[in-house]
Amino acid sequence: MTASGGRFITLEGGEGAGKSTQVRQLAVRLAGCGLDVVQTREPGGTPGAEAIRQLLVTGEIGRWDAMTETLLHYAARRSHVEQTVKPALARGAWVVSDRFADSTMAYQGYAGSVGRDAIADLHRLVLGDFGPDLTLILDLPVEQGLQRAKSRPAAAGAAAEDRYERMGTAFHETLRHAFHDIAAREPQRCRIIDASGSPEAVADALWAAVAGRFDMTGGTSP
Ligand code: TMP
Repeated sequence: MTASGGRFITLEGGEGAGKSTQVRQLAVRLAGCGLDVVQTREPGGTPGAEAIRQLLVTGEIGRWDAMTETLLHYAARRSHVEQTVKPALARGAWVVSDRFADSTMAYQGYAGSVGRDAIADLHRLVLGDFGPDLTLILDLPVEQGLQRAKSRPAAAGAAAEDRYERMGTAFHETLRHAFHDIAAREPQRCRIIDASGSPEAVADALWAAVAGRFDMTGGTSP
């Protein structure tokens, strides 16, 4: 459950599914309905969490043991939720986040070695029952996603944010299964969106899912 006021929407999925583009499009469409919209991402979304992001997405694959990595994601998430997400929701804004806790469950829980129960326990400890109102999972065959991710240009002068992309096809197949499983366990909250079409087609499918979940006609929701 979110804090009162706004709505919290998360986009999830494997590498190269086009989440960043879709988060931007969705934020624009929501703003077009007259809503106050905050677009954000994980790991990141506050200065401190963005600093932690650099520790997580760059460098050697084995630079962290699995639990340390999970704790870093949750440290970043706590900062993001407390300093960015909850204040925005409390003032009535709609928050759209590129990734959230399902990514930790999929990457560190299903595909990594921490285990799903430990991550669920950690989530409760750090965030209680706080979570998204709607989660849109962009789904794409693994090879297609990794191809797209590889062809993405790195920002000039920045370290390549490809530590997870380099983790091998089996890891990414497990991730895809994980997101499907998460959606099957929480059908009220999660929608799987086919991300193999054009960006416009995917944006329309996302919008249909949002409009199906919330009443967008009056700018507010049930
Ligand atoms: P991005 O490439 O979608 O911006 O996300 C950064 C990387 O961090 C991505 O490869 C997935 C990974 N990640 C996790 O492993 N666990 C998490 O909890 C989050 C939020 C991201």
